[in-house]
Parts: sequence; C-alpha cells; structure tokens
Amino acid sequence: MKRTSNILIVAALATGAFLTACNRGENNRKPGRIYMPDMYESRAYEFYSARLSGLKPVEGTVKRGEVLPYHLKESDTALANLVKNPLTITAADLQEGERLFNIYCGICHGTAMDGNGPLYKGGDGPYPAAPANLATGPKAAYTEGRLFHVMTYGYNAMGSYASQLDREQRWKIAAYIKSKNAPSAAPAAAAAAPAKDSAAAK
Ligand code: HEC
Repeated sequence: MKRTSNILIVAALATGAFLTACNRGENNRKPGRIYMPDMYESRAYEFYSARLSGLKPVEGTVKRGEVLPYHLKESDTALANLVKNPLTITAADLQEGERLFNIYCGICHGTAMDGNGPLYKGGDGPYPAAPANLATGPKAAYTEGRLFHVMTYGYNAMGSYASQLDREQRWKIAAYIKSKNAPSAAPAAAAAAPAKDSAAAK
C-alpha cells in the first residue's frame, strides 16, 4: 500500500514538473534558448542600412552591363524618332522580345500586332480604346526609338511600361516589333542610299 502511494506521489510530481515546463503563463513571450545565435541573427548588413545600399551610385556612372539612362522628355517625340537601339540585337534577343511582347502588349495589340488583341476584339472586348495597329499603317513605320519612347511614357489611353519592363527589355521589344512589321524596309533602306535616305526614313 505504502509503495503504491509513493509511486503515485512521484508520478504526480513528475506530471506537475512536466506541465509547468510547458506552461509559462498564457502570454509568455520569452523566446526559447538559442544554441547557435549566429544562425538566427544574421551578421550580414541589413538591406538599405546606411553603410551599404543606401549609398547612391557615383554621379555620372552607370552600373556595369546597364543600358544608359534615357534622357528624353515625354514631349520629345521628334528626337525619340532618331534614337538608336543601344543593344546589339541577336536572335535570342528577338526571341525574348517576342516573348515579352506577347505577355505585355499582345493582350491589347494582338500577337499579330494588328491592334486587335483579346482585350479589344474589334470593339467587343472589355477594353474600349482601340490599340494602335503596329503591323501596317503609319504606326508600323515607327522607329525603334519611337517605340521605346511610347513604352517608356505611354501614349494617351496606353500607360507607361517603364515600371514593368527595364530599358533592355523595352529595347528588345522594339527590335522585335521592327523585325516583324518592316522585314523588307530595313535591308532595302540600308542597301539603297545609306546616309541620306535612311536618315530621312527614320
Ligand atoms: C491595355 C492595352 C494596351 C497594352 C497592354 C499596350 N498598349 Fe499600346 N496602345 C494601346 C492603345 C489603346 C493605344 C492607342 C492610344 C491612342 O491612340 O490614343 C496604343 C498605342 C500604342 C502605340 C502607338 C502610339 C502612338 O504614338 O500613336 C504603340 C507604338 C504601342 N501602343 C506600343 C505598345 C507596346 C510596345 C506595348 C507593350 C509593351 C503596348 N503598346 C501595350 C493599348 C495598349
């Protein structure tokens, strides 16, 4: 009898100790022990801390591999016509331009660039403003510079894409549009009378 009650007492104490270990009050906010603090608390600099990324780049410099900033204002469309694509466009760039165009522009302008994407659908779609036809007509003659300008600032009902597409991506899209809508014009202009005619055409 005595032995049984001893066992019961020990068992009760053990349970009590066990429960108090877990229950340190309802609103206990004390963290547990940390055995390897440097795995929890990073020694790296915090992002945007004054010592690191809060610093501005040195004036007049551009990050390596970055396309130069675009200086034209929204109203400078005439100058924009003359701006050349700073990238050396490869086949892979055109492919990337196509991919981006189909994601960002095709929804309105149509993947065929005829201004009749699924959002417009000849006026039956949910988007009321008619997107420009980039395949034929006057807008198909836009230079890459002008296309870049429109993507950068937007145009009337069309918003700017500068926050969604970086400069390099916008240039790739411009090159892709040109590669589609003027396949014969570019080589012909280059072949015919290089200096004067191509400048006038652009
Ligand atoms: C939400 C629909 C929409 C999307 C997406 C869109 N556009 Fe447009 N875009 C328009 C509309 C609408 C116009 C016609 C604006 C006007 O004439 O008032 C237009 C006009 C244009 C023009 C002609 C501007 C001019 O000077 O007349 C170009 C070039 C153009 N878009 C290129 C693009 C490119 C490149 C993209 C992708 C980065 C794009 N658009 C994405 C709706 C869109």
